[in-house]
Amino acid sequence: MKIAIGSDHGGFESKKIVVDALQKLGHKVVDMGTTSEESTDYPDYAKKVGKAVALGRADRGVLICGTGIGMSIAANKIPGIRAAVVWNVKTASLASEHNCANVLCLSGRFIKPSLLPKMIKAWIKTPFAGGRHQRRIRKISKLEKELCKPR
Ligand code: RB5
Repeated sequence: MKIAIGSDHGGFESKKIVVDALQKLGHKVVDMGTTSEESTDYPDYAKKVGKAVALGRADRGVLICGTGIGMSIAANKIPGIRAAVVWNVKTASLASEHNCANVLCLSGRFIKPSLLPKMIKAWIKTPFAGGRHQRRIRKISKLEKELCKPR
């Protein structure tokens, strides 16, 4: 798969670990910044990665900020994006199994670095369960269509 990745300064160090983990799993990674620990604004990277996924230029995305929260709030404004904040291996796998999350949001400050590759693997390898979860995803898409009208 082609995976777009972005972080702010709070996720910069963790991004290197995640890029490495994704490449080891055989994926093509497109790094959309940031490029240093200099302070920057997470919505800029959520926009880049979210748009890449929403427009089909990447299959999935990973976003990392201090907590993962700001990235998820911003990315979920983009129609078609289901961005999930996850904090351990189980929630990472459930983000795929139940939520079909196409963007994974991680904390660079509250997740042990050694856990990141395991979380990434769980999210990538776990299939979407469909069934009742598909119905719920459809309801989210409907909500989006009702409320995100083109201006
Ligand atoms: C930056 O200090 C921090 O606010 C940001 O990385 C993120 O945690 C926001 O949700």
